[in-house]
Amino acid sequence: MSFPIERPRRLRRTENLRRLVSETRLSTSDFVQPLFVVPGNGVKNEISSLPGQFHWSVDRVVEPAQRCSQAGVPAVILFGIPSRKDEIGSAAYDDNGEVQLAIRAIKREVPELLVITDVCLCEYTSHGHCGAVCNSEVANDQTLELLARAAVSHARAGADIVAPSDMMDGRIGAIRQALDAEGFEQVAILSYAAKYASAFYGPFRIAVDSAPQFGDRRGYQMDPANAEEALREVELDLAEGADMVMIKPGIAYLDILQSVKQRFRRVTSAYHVSGEYAMIEAAAARGWVDRKRLVLESLLAFKRAGADFVLTYYAMEAAEWLNQEQDR
Ligand code: PBG
Repeated sequence: MSFPIERPRRLRRTENLRRLVSETRLSTSDFVQPLFVVPGNGVKNEISSLPGQFHWSVDRVVEPAQRCSQAGVPAVILFGIPSRKDEIGSAAYDDNGEVQLAIRAIKREVPELLVITDVCLCEYTSHGHCGAVCNSEVANDQTLELLARAAVSHARAGADIVAPSDMMDGRIGAIRQALDAEGFEQVAILSYAAKYASAFYGPFRIAVDSAPQFGDRRGYQMDPANAEEALREVELDLAEGADMVMIKPGIAYLDILQSVKQRFRRVTSAYHVSGEYAMIEAAAARGWVDRKRLVLESLLAFKRAGADFVLTYYAMEAAEWLNQEQDR
């Protein structure tokens, strides 16, 4: 008997065999859809750097929210593009800002859909940095107060979950304290805990006009060379009261995702970011890849690595694909 007894191919022979032994499965409940809210009325404009994604005005943002809910996507995450930017990003905590109004509109029309908000200042500051700038550096502790105000303003509008993406030290604790002080102890925090200074955010920064006007974000976002530091960042955020953590970007950081999940055993998510979306779209437009297979394979990889859910521009579409497969 020289041939091995075990033949792994025995379990790969038919569709049902493969289904029976599959270790990982995608479901519509695995996704969060990002939505971009802009000033104005009746706006649905395709984003040049994210083909297939749109800028929505408050009066129309309920349309994609409804479609998400119908497809079984449990949550959306909102990003705002304000009509005015200033040095400290004060529009971020304007109770009548685009995001705040969009939260109210979605909660009114699609109450069961979870609304997550990105809490950051870079879309709102004239210089494009994620906080208040002092001597050409982002001032950490001064920024905490601004972030806390933004988070409370989102909670007041009805956000279910706030997601700080700024990478200031101590922001989770500051936001938790501010939320609790205002009676929002039920509003959860999804921390962008390990967020790297990445070139994969390029298309997003075009979409929200948030590229830094000087310098870069390496003074606050993480160095792509570091893995152990990510564990430390996650540990700190959990200690400060984060309910869930996120790793960002996605596919290039699955090692980080896996070790964070294995180490902490807490709700862990990943952001399949704009550059990853743009790369797939660009290759698909040239006919170089099978778009649907590439998207589903990418999303499956997040789950296999340990993600409980994935923030992805494909959320709505992927959920609809999964529903069609089930109908068959
Ligand atoms: C805000 C923020 C960014 C992204 C999410 N929140 C941009 C950045 O940090 O420059 C990126 C999302 C994406 O690329 O899809 N700080």
